[in-house]
Amino acid sequence: MIVVTGATGNVGSALVSQLLAEGASVRALTRDPERAALPAAADVARLDLGGDLPQPADLGALFDGASALFLHAQAVGAHTAALLEAARARGVRHVTVLSSGIIQDGADTAHPIYVQHARLEDHVRESGLAWTALRPNAFATNAFQWAPQIRSGDTVSGPYPGAVSAPIHEADIAAVAVRTLLDDGHQGAVHRLTGPDPVTNEEQVHAIGAALGRTLRFVEVPPQDVRPELFPHVPPHMLPAILRTWGEAVGVEPEITTTVKAVTGQPARTFEEWATDHRDAFSS
Ligand SMILES: NC(=O)c1ccc[n+]([C@@H]2O[C@H](COP(=O)([O-])OP(=O)(O)OC[C@H]3O[C@@H](n4cnc5c(N)ncnc54)[C@H](OP(=O)(O)O)[C@@H]3O)[C@@H](O)[C@H]2O)c1
Repeated sequence: MIVVTGATGNVGSALVSQLLAEGASVRALTRDPERAALPAAADVARLDLGGDLPQPADLGALFDGASALFLHAQAVGAHTAALLEAARARGVRHVTVLSSGIIQDGADTAHPIYVQHARLEDHVRESGLAWTALRPNAFATNAFQWAPQIRSGDTVSGPYPGAVSAPIHEADIAAVAVRTLLDDGHQGAVHRLTGPDPVTNEEQVHAIGAALGRTLRFVEVPPQDVRPELFPHVPPHMLPAILRTWGEAVGVEPEITTTVKAVTGQPARTFEEWATDHRDAFSS
């Protein structure tokens, strides 16, 4: 049995489907099992640790019969250590943690995303469980930030059209996670994950347009004019640091790894494939 936190999220829902397709048993954790719409073959259980709520009296019951855990930062919030302890006490042996590519030598250790994930990885290393860390860089799903604008017109306004990343498809992160959860040989491994190609923000918008059969235009908003409403998925206190990171990515070649292919045997999906897979989210 594999326990998946963040199971309704971008990576988690792909992971649940892929684990089930491999014949694994899955316990999918969500704050709201009624709303979750998880596959019927998954054992769906409630977990709400992301806020400041008291911990459920018996976290251990979540891990009955489980051998491995997929750990998502937001889903466990401040209670990561308690959850890991409950998992270890019930016989879970391995944890795969969804961390971030921001964790690397020379990183800005004061960056809020660095702080969040460094703390998460520390808890994992101190848990006494065998572990694997996934450190993806930018998700292709960040492009959902433009969905409201694309649904309502052909112009996307935003900062840094020239910021470059190598966006990774959530299905590829999930595919790597599957291997680390089901196979031996990933204990203590740190997998840095990226998509296959450098793509600017403006090129991402154009690729989404191509998937929709439309011509989309990117209109630059100066960073000082960016308001939090433009990025509803970004916690407002993190926006200045994230804008700074995008600014530093203009015209800079992003890190590109071949880890997806090395671990799964399949090349990482392109941003064009991602846009095609998700075109419905951008259609009105
Ligand atoms: N975006 C990037 O470029 C990037 C890059 C590197 C690493 N990452 C890492 O990947 C994570 C995002 O993964 P994802 O896109 O798969 O996540 P996501 O789609 O945002 O899903 C998160 C899931 O966690 C659950 N959750 C539980 N408590 C929550 C809370 N307090 N706030 C928000 N969600 C909560 C939600 O499920 P229920 O509603 O069912 O409970 C939600 O579906 C980031 O947090 C970060 O750790 C992201």
